[in-house]
Amino acid sequence: MRVTVIGTGYVGTVTGACLSYLGHRVTCVDTDGSKIAKLQRGESPIYEPHLIEMLQLAARRGGIDFTTELAAAAAESDVIFIAVGTPPLPSGEANLAYLEAAARSIGAALDGSRFRVVVNKSTVPVGCGNLVETLVREGMGEGRLSGRREIRFGVASNPEFLREGCAVADSLYPDRIVVGAADEKTLEAMRELYRPLVAQRFAPPPGVPRPAALREVKLLTTTLTSAEMIKYAANAFLAMKIGFANEIANICERVGAEATEVVAGIGLDSRIGSRFLNPGVGWGGSCFGKDVHALLHTRRSSTF
Ligand SMILES: NC(=O)c1ccc[n+]([C@@H]2O[C@H](COP(=O)([O-])OP(=O)(O)OC[C@H]3O[C@@H](n4cnc5c(N)ncnc54)[C@H](O)[C@@H]3O)[C@@H](O)[C@H]2O)c1
Repeated sequence: MRVTVIGTGYVGTVTGACLSYLGHRVTCVDTDGSKIAKLQRGESPIYEPHLIEMLQLAARRGGIDFTTELAAAAAESDVIFIAVGTPPLPSGEANLAYLEAAARSIGAALDGSRFRVVVNKSTVPVGCGNLVETLVREGMGEGRLSGRREIRFGVASNPEFLREGCAVADSLYPDRIVVGAADEKTLEAMRELYRPLVAQRFAPPPGVPRPAALREVKLLTTTLTSAEMIKYAANAFLAMKIGFANEIANICERVGAEATEVVAGIGLDSRIGSRFLNPGVGWGGSCFGKDVHALLHTRRSSTF
């Protein structure tokens, strides 16, 4: 399939490289000309193990290119990913300005030549699937809409779960793929896109071996809202597990228990599991803090 990925940050660059590796024809787009120039020279804007090799291989095979021209790329594509940043505002809310600009630009670029899927990979507040659809329609422009009635597109939410530092392996061998959409045609296009990944029908790239037990990846299809909620719920749960281990370690210190023994003892319970259950400096990184705050903001601002 022909794929455009908008945003060449962590998520967009890794997604573009991996989709190309799976056999899709990918164009990566960014408004930042210096990032695009770097990628065109065969350099990566971020350091991530194995990413540069994946990008160079894709370029040699003619499976990837890089541009600042969103309109031309989107017009040629079956699937258009939005992978722009959604940094936190002081209120804890996600800043959707980049997402809004990208979605409107997609709308302005679409024509009636084929059915497209606009996929949101950015982490966005629950309910944004509908916002993306509204903004794409807005981008089509009131004036031109009458002549472009035939434009058909679907919107999907496909949250990203990669970890920085092992992003290529996480993308090629994920625990699951979550796709939310409102219609079967959109879901079918997403199943086709991810078929090689689901079936694990590709040779592992050098240095990124397939986990021995992995035969197939589960693709979970949901509503748009559930997919958006899954991303926040997963990150909040992981942050909670780390925070919990630290709180237990504090109590251990007071009562004279050995924290590492205690977390080992509870982590061996298969209902709990030992990962993300180590006392230490606490959680951080680019996503946990902002996603927990955004979820709290959603809880406060939602009516029941
Ligand atoms: N980094 C992670 O580990 C991670 C993991 C899971 C999910 N996410 C989520 O994925 C999204 C992207 O994260 P990231 O870390 O890749 O962000 P990033 O800030 O590293 O990159 C975003 C890129 O989008 C570009 N951009 C912004 N507006 C644009 C537009 N209108 N058109 C084209 N390009 C545009 C920026 O120039 C930038 O290069 C965020 O919502 C983030 O929360 C990130």
